[in-house]
Amino acid sequence: MKATVLGAAIVVLSALALQPATAQDGITSLRGQAALDEGPAAVNIHRPNVGKAFTRSYRQQPPLVPHRVDKYQIDIKANQCMGCHDWPQNVEHNAPKISETHYLSPTGVRLNRVSGSRWFCNQCHVPQVQAQALVPNEFKSSNDMKK
Ligand code: HEC
Ligand code: HEC
Repeated sequence: MKATVLGAAIVVLSALALQPATAQDGITSLRGQAALDEGPAAVNIHRPNVGKAFTRSYRQQPPLVPHRVDKYQIDIKANQCMGCHDWPQNVEHNAPKISETHYLSPTGVRLNRVSGSRWFCNQCHVPQVQAQALVPNEFKSSNDMKK
């Protein structure tokens, strides 16, 4: 199923690349003919649904962030998330410690600091937001699949 969707996406993309779409071709965007400023405003990810954490949709999912993240700087030198999520300071902040997998180097060596491959937290962890799906889809969580 996934492969078919990906395949279809590649076909569509390459078709678009070869023949620039014009209105005359009868190709419409997913938004229809609506102008950009006519649509609803984008969800503000700086106002996530704080409080109760959303459940994970599948076992390996990076948990969504149940608090605001816009004040926490992450750059090549600083990572303010680690001020609360690294051991031992996570204890006094009552924050979950980053997963043990985050202390493994890419070759599997156990480190005493977060691995460089896990430095940019928001590459995987995004603030939780109750947003409408951008396109209709049939995604089901792994728990729903069992039903
Ligand atoms: C001031 C302390 C603090 C900082 C800084 C902080 N967090 Fe948190 N974080 C918490 C606490 C406390 C929780 C537990 C849930 C709650 O109370 O919101 C949490 C929960 C989480 C969770 C959910 C974990 C789970 O198992 O469900 C993730 C993911 C997370 N934070 C990621 C981040 C990221 C990414 C950053 C930086 C952008 C960050 N946090 C910065 C305190 C912090
Ligand atoms: C490459 C993707 C990736 C990056 C980068 C990453 N994480 Fe994670 N994180 C995950 C996944 C996947 C899980 C859940 C599975 C696991 O425990 O490894 C997780 C789990 C967690 C948890 C829950 C731990 C628990 O025991 O429940 C916290 C808290 C967390 N990460 C915080 C962070 C913080 C803070 C950073 C940045 C320093 C970070 N992560 C960087 C993918 C990532």
